[in-house]
Amino acid sequence: MEIITVRDNQALGQTAARWVAREILTSPDSVLGLPTGGTPVGMYHYLVRLFQEGLVSFGAVRAFNLDEYVGLLPSHPQSYAAFMREHFWGKVDLAPEAAEIPRGDRTDLAAECRRYDQAIERAGGIDVQVLGLGLNGHIGFNEPSHNLEVRTHVVDLTPATIQANARFFNREAEVPRQAITMGIGTIMQARRILLLVSGDAKADILRKVLYGPVGTEVPASILQLHGDLTVLTDIKL
Ligand code: F6R
Repeated sequence: MEIITVRDNQALGQTAARWVAREILTSPDSVLGLPTGGTPVGMYHYLVRLFQEGLVSFGAVRAFNLDEYVGLLPSHPQSYAAFMREHFWGKVDLAPEAAEIPRGDRTDLAAECRRYDQAIERAGGIDVQVLGLGLNGHIGFNEPSHNLEVRTHVVDLTPATIQANARFFNREAEVPRQAITMGIGTIMQARRILLLVSGDAKADILRKVLYGPVGTEVPASILQLHGDLTVLTDIKL
């Protein structure tokens, strides 16, 4: 495990963007696994800038998002598809058919989960997985639980996650109660993982993730077992 500590949230975004851009320059047809949320906004901002400056192209990249809310159309402003269009997809040369995200609006969600896993498999798995960290230790929407799911599945969001994500909605009651998320097995099979963690509110959970026991109650702790994990944080551990 490599831990990179940076000064602040802006430096985190810049460093993350350079890290990802370096991967793409080395392997232009990389398969990326991508997060949404507050943490990666800076990374997308600087990746877009690197693209605009002609320093990196996403023309041969394929990208799979980690998760999507159940019940929201991709056109819903709080859907993760809308987030990705606003911050990344719509601003770089990533082919529309190469930008994948689970469809939380499908009536047959089990079939949607299978479709998503098959698409990831056909792409040859994830090369570079970027992750954020939930306050309760979740990655993707793999919430603390007695067991962890291996592949893409529907998950009930915990009250803590609903509360944490209410800031993106008008009211907490509007936050969907379920999400589709990539499973822990798919995340762990990524060849390289970049975990982004920003803000002192996550200091305690980050210490548990990195130095605590590995267990399902802190899902991200399983990352300790990954052979190529980089942690990029503005938290002084
Ligand atoms: C979102 C995702 C989540 C977030 C986590 C942290 O796609 O996978 O695991 O990374 O909830 O969210 P922020 O960055 O908003 O604190």
